[in-house]
Amino acid sequence: MKRKHIISFIVLSFVLVFTSACGNGDKEQQADKQSKAEDNTENTVEELQLPKAALQKLDSGEDVKALQHALKEIGYDIKDNGEFDAATVWAITDLQMQKDLPLTGIYEQETAKVVKQLVEDASDFEPGKELPAKAEPATTDSGTNVIANPYEQLVLVNKENALPADYTPTDLVVPDINYPFTEDLPKKKVRKIAATAIEDLFAAADKAGLELFAQSGYRSYDRQETVFASNVQSLGEEQANQVSARPGESEHQTGLTMDVTSRDVGFQLNEEFAETDEGKWLAENAAKYGFIIRFPKGKEEITQYQYEPWHIRYVGKKAAKEITENDLTLEEYLTAE
Ligand code: DAL
Ligand code: ZN
Repeated sequence: MKRKHIISFIVLSFVLVFTSACGNGDKEQQADKQSKAEDNTENTVEELQLPKAALQKLDSGEDVKALQHALKEIGYDIKDNGEFDAATVWAITDLQMQKDLPLTGIYEQETAKVVKQLVEDASDFEPGKELPAKAEPATTDSGTNVIANPYEQLVLVNKENALPADYTPTDLVVPDINYPFTEDLPKKKVRKIAATAIEDLFAAADKAGLELFAQSGYRSYDRQETVFASNVQSLGEEQANQVSARPGESEHQTGLTMDVTSRDVGFQLNEEFAETDEGKWLAENAAKYGFIIRFPKGKEEITQYQYEPWHIRYVGKKAAKEITENDLTLEEYLTAE
């Protein structure tokens, strides 16, 4: 309900109560009706109250419904079905883009403030201006679905879902962590929304007397093309795609991923890393900082990649906890019924 409608509703409620009360002159009935009208008014205003808790993809319930209600008020063409679905993620992401907020597709405090302001006044606001809703799902030349919202924190990138070739994250930074090389390369970078988390992760390892090294983070579409082509040359196409992604299908392009290694394995990315103290510590502690081991052992048929104990992906603490505690892959987590 629009704000002006609510105000009219409140005024009308009081007018009705007042008129009927004056009509019969019965004080008790008057008080009863007035309190019912007040209850009504409270409920109506309550509907517009924004959720205080953070909300994200897969959440459901009254809080999500209240948020969707507010997003509809602002003008987003979404359903208020109480499910934090792709359309809700889209609306939140578009709003974050327009208002220069960290791009996550997640509703949290900073976003809540902006939603509140817009509910009060959305006169100059154009929903979908930054992230237009795609009418037709796009596919790559080889038929892979092209991800419509590559900005969201819980984006699923795999052999079925490719990033647009021209997608480059806008908030890449070099986190303050150890690298086994000194050159200033793009692969040092991650998205800002993952940078503090990875700094905290590395600092915690250090505190535990361990030394993690970051080998490879952000990789552009073009760089992935080169990496994949080189693997095809040496391994053949099928084998190459077990160990490396086709361009567009690599999470490294999201800037939410880092390949982590240690001195004991000569800074290589190999299965032996899982047996090192650093590898074991990483598997046990990554989730506390919002990261998952993206390609776990025994889940190769689901992820369609070999076991990679070194490849961590930032998904945020809430999702990382659920995924790790329940031994899930990102695929299983995001497609759970
Ligand atoms: N090694 C992983 C699958 C990648 O290339 O993104
Ligand atoms: Zn990797």
